[in-house]
Amino acid sequence: MRVSCAINGEPRHADDVWEGESLLYVLRERLGLPGSKNACEQGECGSCSVYLDGVFVCACLVLAGQAEGSEVVTVEGLAAGDDLHPVQEAFVEAGAVQCGFCTPGLIVATHDLLARNPSPTDPEIREALAGNLCRCTGYEKVLDAVRLAAGRGLWTATGDPSGRGLPSRSGAPGTRGGDDAGPRAGEAGT
Ligand code: FES
Ligand code: FES
Repeated sequence: MRVSCAINGEPRHADDVWEGESLLYVLRERLGLPGSKNACEQGECGSCSVYLDGVFVCACLVLAGQAEGSEVVTVEGLAAGDDLHPVQEAFVEAGAVQCGFCTPGLIVATHDLLARNPSPTDPEIREALAGNLCRCTGYEKVLDAVRLAAGRGLWTATGDPSGRGLPSRSGAPGTRGGDDAGPRAGEAGT
């Protein structure tokens, strides 16, 4: 089947998609967007986190067909060309990147957290990132990065500080950021 949707603001199409194919597979293998990582393919690690119609989801748990007609924002869509998003800058400045495999998911998760809660407490940061696993950093640098991004006070009622119309609210029930949050395989900072 053909799947058509807007990805990072651009209309995109993928052909010959199998009914059981995930959005993550289509992004990475069919559309040349390898930023979202495939680590577990089971909703356990958060490395594939993207926005689907402004809702924070694990792309490995979304069927590609479910994205038909939707707007998808991946980690590639947070940056503007060579200009990093403030959250991405904060991860670099805080030294929160080692092998980098978890980093795209953590950056999207942090973006989602700050869009909902511009001044999170440490427990709120840990809760928001609990579904994103990192094998390298021990999480302290990740927490530093989130505190750094939040401390810059860039998020306002008008939404994303990049001013590029990125998702500014999510947390629908059944999604990772929502009241009925999905799988939480780890606890950041523990
Ligand atoms: S690859 Fe999707 S949650 Fe791990
Ligand atoms: S930096 Fe290597 S898994 Fe997080």
